[in-house]
Amino acid sequence: MPHRKEFEQTLVLIKPDALKNSLTGYVLSQLSEFHTGLRFAGSKIVYVGQMLAEEHYAEHRGKVFFPSLLEYIMGQLHYPDEPWKRRVIALVYQGVDAVKKIRNICGPTNPHIAREKNPGCIRALGTLVPLKDAAGNIIGERMDNLIHASATNEDAEREIKLWFAPTDIPPFMRAYPTEINQAHYYFKDGSLLLRHEPESMCLLAPGDIAWKTDIDTLRSLEKGSETVGSLGSVAAKYLMNTEKE
Ligand code: GTP
Ligand code: MG
Repeated sequence: MPHRKEFEQTLVLIKPDALKNSLTGYVLSQLSEFHTGLRFAGSKIVYVGQMLAEEHYAEHRGKVFFPSLLEYIMGQLHYPDEPWKRRVIALVYQGVDAVKKIRNICGPTNPHIAREKNPGCIRALGTLVPLKDAAGNIIGERMDNLIHASATNEDAEREIKLWFAPTDIPPFMRAYPTEINQAHYYFKDGSLLLRHEPESMCLLAPGDIAWKTDIDTLRSLEKGSETVGSLGSVAAKYLMNTEKE
């Protein structure tokens, strides 16, 4: 299926600043099928925990803005005293040139550049916030740019599998191979378990439909061999909205 142009998919996140500023309706209308020719394949409202945030932005680990990027996507910056309002809206869009079409409507990463280069794009409505160290010196800036969209087809696959289980997507809209899981997989304190222990959370049980790559990763972790993905990249999704993440 993924080789068919009309099945191309991309992940969109409506970030906490967009929710706080009531821009959800605006973003959705910009991305509507009428404007983009793309269809919804999945949607969910997610409380973003540390593991999911770190996995999503893994490519930025180690950069100076990484900690503030995690706080941003986790909603801590926009809802410091109201944790119950911390969430993002995650969406999968499907259709011809889904990645490119949505990136174009989002515009450049930096909202100031977005306003200059592409007025009218979604990120032109974003803001830059100074980042300070403990002594109050400005050490950089935070980019509150309202929306995330996958940059490439490879990123889209990794990100969609990170945020969505196959059963969050209608069967005929799934772009990546799935498999029926055969084993019990549990998670506790950052480790994979094959049997239930008190306080462990079930990731997958026999008979569950999962992304093939998730099952490959769990099997490799079980055997202690080289893995395609990390345990976090699999666990974050199954622990989503559980409070245990
Ligand atoms: P996303 O759709 O959110 O992934 O943005 P992007 O693909 O346009 O940019 P990228 O993946 O490079 O960066 C991810 C996020 O990190 C951005 O949305 C910004 O919030 C933040 N970011 C990226 N580069 C910088 C930077 O140089 N400085 C700061 N402060 N933040 C950055
Ligand atoms: Mg990116």
